[in-house]
Amino acid sequence: MAARRTAVLNNRGGVGKSDMAVRLGAALAKRGRRVGILDFDPQGNASRRCGWRYDEEKPQLTVSEAVMANRVGTMAQVWTPVEWNIEYASRMTLAPAWLELENRMAEAGVVGNHLRLAKALQGADDHLDEVLMDCPPSLFHLTQMVLAAAHQALIVTEPEIDSILGAKRVRDFVAEKKATLHNDELVLAGVVVNNLDPAGKALEREQLGSIRRIFGDLVWDPVVHRRAALATADNQAIPLELTKASGAAPARATFELLAETYEKRSVTVA
Ligand SMILES: Nc1ncnc2c1ncn2[C@@H]1O[C@H](COP(=O)(O)OP(=O)(O)O)[C@@H](O)[C@H]1O
Ligand SMILES: [Mg+2]
Repeated sequence: MAARRTAVLNNRGGVGKSDMAVRLGAALAKRGRRVGILDFDPQGNASRRCGWRYDEEKPQLTVSEAVMANRVGTMAQVWTPVEWNIEYASRMTLAPAWLELENRMAEAGVVGNHLRLAKALQGADDHLDEVLMDCPPSLFHLTQMVLAAAHQALIVTEPEIDSILGAKRVRDFVAEKKATLHNDELVLAGVVVNNLDPAGKALEREQLGSIRRIFGDLVWDPVVHRRAALATADNQAIPLELTKASGAAPARATFELLAETYEKRSVTVA
């Protein structure tokens, strides 16, 4: 059976897309799912957080080479283990990205090139249950390749006006462009709110209210609070279980619940 592919995105940077791809992926792996984290941002943040580093001496295959080849199944050669010292990481695998992926942007004008990621993944993710695809903060060619390959989109937003506007642009883009991207079946599965202050500032509560008004039932529970443990785990490229920073336990619990929501609210893939 084919893996379910989820685009994790917002048109705004710094809202926690990469954190969501990695931590939700980890929580799904803990539940026994076989998870691919596919990094499609040339910044390579998700790759680094999974313990990966590009080695100039010993060049590794990355998502960039897989899509440049423009051939069926090339991603099969790219998956690499997630280098975390924890049992469930054995069910996680990474398709890494680094700056080289920027070079694929220059090929955006070639007809049909937005389908290159779908082609690269064809038959190359059958060994997985879920593929979480981390996008750059843009709606241009790289994100379009991801949307053309995805079954569903998951928006991450902060309770802050510019990221809410970015989330709305994503929603409208998916609705208006999915046919042009040759992916009529693409579904906006949900909106996850990240980085809410646990102390609950009034302005943030107000913004959370407007996210619920704008996106209604699409907003997933629970909301992810701001926790030092998440920034620390990201920074040190370790799983949440291995950080002693404050808020590690509630952060873990939040992503475990989000993984349940993900399983309930995701589209079914034939
Ligand atoms: N809930 C959170 N609590 C604390 N820090 C967070 C949280 N979510 C993200 N961060 C931190 O905020 C920064 C931006 O997150 P990141 O995942 O890189 O966002 P994006 O991929 O959208 O650019 C990173 O340093 C990350 O570790
Ligand atoms: Mg990112």
